[in-house]
Amino acid sequence: MQAEVDGRSLEDWEIGAFFSLLAAAGNDTTRHSIAHALHLFTVHEDQREYLLEDLSGRLDDAVEEVLRYASSVQQFRRHATQDTELRGVPVKEGEKVVIWYCSGSYDEDVFPEPQTFDITRSNSKHMAFGGGGPHFCLGSAPRRMMIKYALTEVYTRMPDLRTGTPSYQVNNFIRGVHHLPATWTPTKG
Ligand code: HEM
Repeated sequence: MQAEVDGRSLEDWEIGAFFSLLAAAGNDTTRHSIAHALHLFTVHEDQREYLLEDLSGRLDDAVEEVLRYASSVQQFRRHATQDTELRGVPVKEGEKVVIWYCSGSYDEDVFPEPQTFDITRSNSKHMAFGGGGPHFCLGSAPRRMMIKYALTEVYTRMPDLRTGTPSYQVNNFIRGVHHLPATWTPTKG
């Protein structure tokens, strides 16, 4: 509320717009990531077994791999602020550049066998929250924590939970899950 941008305070509408951004950016992304995680640990039984052998000890790496493998934000478009070159492709100042975070997270120069879901990877330099710089995701820290706590609660209270067939949203911005059935054995009491 007290921040200054370019030497002036934010106006009411700007603060309102910022909170709308926070509400949208912090909502969809998280629930989709949790849904992706539950489904990934259903279809990759070996990874599930490995995780559940030491849930608290292996969850941090597991969350990073879920974010890398199935990050909920696919791309944003930016404008180049100066002439540059990306992998030999010239980009001029002012040109539009689409950043495919999902592609960066599958970069085979950084992640061996990127198509493999593997929570034992030690390199977690994925692009799910961006690549750094002023637009880096504001919610990356609480988000990691929320996914971690959600999975802790699910696999502690409903360790045999398995998902069914998901239906996915059709768009190229958010990798979202519309509907995801699940089954588990209710505990008594
Ligand atoms: C799994 C969850 C999330 C993912 C995958 C995600 C992903 C991203 C990505 C890729 C960007 C663009 C980064 C860049 O281009 O450098 C971004 C920006 C942003 N995120 Fe997140 N996000 C998540 C959760 C959240 C949450 C929980 C919040 C807020 C509570 C949030 C707030 C923002 C904001 C405000 C920006 C814009 C920053 C700027 O442009 O200055 N995000 N996010």
